[in-house]
Amino acid sequence: MYRTTDVATDRWGIKSLAPISDEQFELWQTLIEARTGMTIGAARRSFLETNLAIRMREIGLNDYEAYYEQLMAGPVAEREWAILVDRLTVQETSFFRHPSSFALVRQHISELMLRDPARKGVNLWSVGCSTGEEPYSLAMQTDVQLAELRRAKAYFGVTATDISLPTLGRARTGIYGDRRLHNVPSAWKEKYFKPVAGGRKEWQVTDELKRRVAFVQLNIMELDKAPLAGLDVIFCQNVLIYFRRFRKRDILTNLAVRLAPGGLLVVGLGEATDWAHPWLERVDYPDTMAFRRKS
Ligand SMILES: C[S@@+](CC[C@H](N)C(=O)[O-])C[C@H]1O[C@@H](n2cnc3c(N)ncnc32)[C@H](O)[C@@H]1O
Repeated sequence: MYRTTDVATDRWGIKSLAPISDEQFELWQTLIEARTGMTIGAARRSFLETNLAIRMREIGLNDYEAYYEQLMAGPVAEREWAILVDRLTVQETSFFRHPSSFALVRQHISELMLRDPARKGVNLWSVGCSTGEEPYSLAMQTDVQLAELRRAKAYFGVTATDISLPTLGRARTGIYGDRRLHNVPSAWKEKYFKPVAGGRKEWQVTDELKRRVAFVQLNIMELDKAPLAGLDVIFCQNVLIYFRRFRKRDILTNLAVRLAPGGLLVVGLGEATDWAHPWLERVDYPDTMAFRRKS
């Protein structure tokens, strides 16, 4: 059932694909945007083409149309889609990636805990958590902070969601090379990571910290399926970059209503310009874009 149309042979005799046609490009753009919210503009055409070609070569297909059909239905469609989404999403991240946003979360949690000495705990959500650096950073910071506030017995948990299953698998494993940990203070590295045997200079998140973070697959285009509510912090950074304005606004509104009264929504700088919600007020904190739900 594999088609062999549009195939050229390169100088090593390896079959290579013909460039994607305008019509095919539009079909793929529409499919990807409908399912993930991500727009693939003309500037990222070659990114799409390359990733499709690599994947098609891996599974022995050399026809864009045949691959498209394979993703539409049939026994392998779901599995194959999960693999492709992983290839097409940008997973760039790091520990404590945007320090001002973390500083703001820290200030917010202090205020919550100090305002209410009987408060039982804090619930955080990392939306588009990628390979785990962001939710583990939130978990380390909150753990240290609650101890400093002498509220070490208070509960805290981070829900970490992403569309990509393979990415979530890496996040759950929680193994990072030495260089990826350069933003983690050394005392925290000692406390929350253990060296991986084998001398490859890799570190794994301790089971204790892992227990604080629940990784769940969730497409932000399908937030209505998520029973999450009453959150004290929603952290959504560098996820909505490739989304159209109207989608961004819908998603932000859907996140806003999941905050507890007084809860904080932190987004990436410039990711919520000209968006407002009647329940929220803008937080004035340097180098951040954040909103607080009115009490
Ligand atoms: C650039 S990373 C950002 C990671 C982290 N938030 C940070 O700022 O370092 C974007 C993440 O958003 C995820 N993502 C993209 N589209 C998504 C969608 N529709 N639903 C959920 N996650 C999505 C990607 O899989 C990727 O892991």
